[in-house]
Amino acid sequence: MAAAGPERPRILVTRKMMPDVERRISEVFRATLNAEDLPLSKDEILAQAAQYDGILLTSFDKLGPDFIPALPPSIRIIATHSVGYDHLSIPQARAKGVAVTNTPGVLTDATADISMLLILGAARGASWGDRMVRGNTWGETTLVSPMGHDVSGKRLGILGMGRIGQAVAMRARGFGMELHYHSRKPVSGDDEHGARYHARFEDMLPHCDFLSINCASTPETRGIVNAKTISQLPDGAIVVNTARGDIVDDGDLIAALSSGKLAAAGLDVFKGEPNIDPRYRELENVFLLPHIGSATPGTRSAMGHKCIDNLEQFFRGEKPTDLLTGD
Ligand code: DGY
Repeated sequence: MAAAGPERPRILVTRKMMPDVERRISEVFRATLNAEDLPLSKDEILAQAAQYDGILLTSFDKLGPDFIPALPPSIRIIATHSVGYDHLSIPQARAKGVAVTNTPGVLTDATADISMLLILGAARGASWGDRMVRGNTWGETTLVSPMGHDVSGKRLGILGMGRIGQAVAMRARGFGMELHYHSRKPVSGDDEHGARYHARFEDMLPHCDFLSINCASTPETRGIVNAKTISQLPDGAIVVNTARGDIVDDGDLIAALSSGKLAAAGLDVFKGEPNIDPRYRELENVFLLPHIGSATPGTRSAMGHKCIDNLEQFFRGEKPTDLLTGD
């Protein structure tokens, strides 16, 4: 624990955290909390940043590409309350000498659970089924309608076999799914959970009754699920995404869902969220969630504590466990 006293580092916390996280960060640091949980704009964060030594922020903060270059010299570390860090430029932070840490590991299970929820919900019509019951349009059940799609025993392709991809594979095995994956490199035998590696994304696509997007958003993956790659999926495939919205080309996905090329999609993340492409709302065959992959009290608390662990290590002069700006 950092020494108590006025010399404790000053930390700006941009969003409301779990109560135990807020308690601890206030004990360890001179922390400014956001009790009202009012989103701060980039300019509002920058306007007060000179009063702080570090910032605990989230992937929901709208920062933009000029955020890090505009930071005052007082800011020595940014701890992001997320595993994804596409909202921050690591090269810019490194060049400016600002440390950046994230929260890998602690949200793996919660996020993989949501991938499975999307697979099941999109395939079996959780969204339209719920609307039927609530909207009182549940008429006579027949043997041909309403109808979803099988999950058990089907083929699942996982794009991105990091921690979350592996946890999805482990769960999907329980549904007897045949597993495939694509990532930059193959993972070790045990971590594959019986999945077959495809060095090229395109080579995996014909094997995917379901495609689960679990990779980071990078220049290489942005827009990788587009008209061309969707056309290589089997007809009637289902796409689910718990990673980042910009990995998908929305127009192309919506076209494939409208034409019937894809049977359904399950989406927890969207480009420009929460202002999603409004055409998704009109589609019957999409199951939509509001970016809740890590949204359980236990997971959000563990993420907050991981941020504090990293901040403490940094201000003790140690290398933070989850440092992204190291060599
Ligand atoms: C993450 O941790 O990256 C989640 O998507 C929440 O931002």
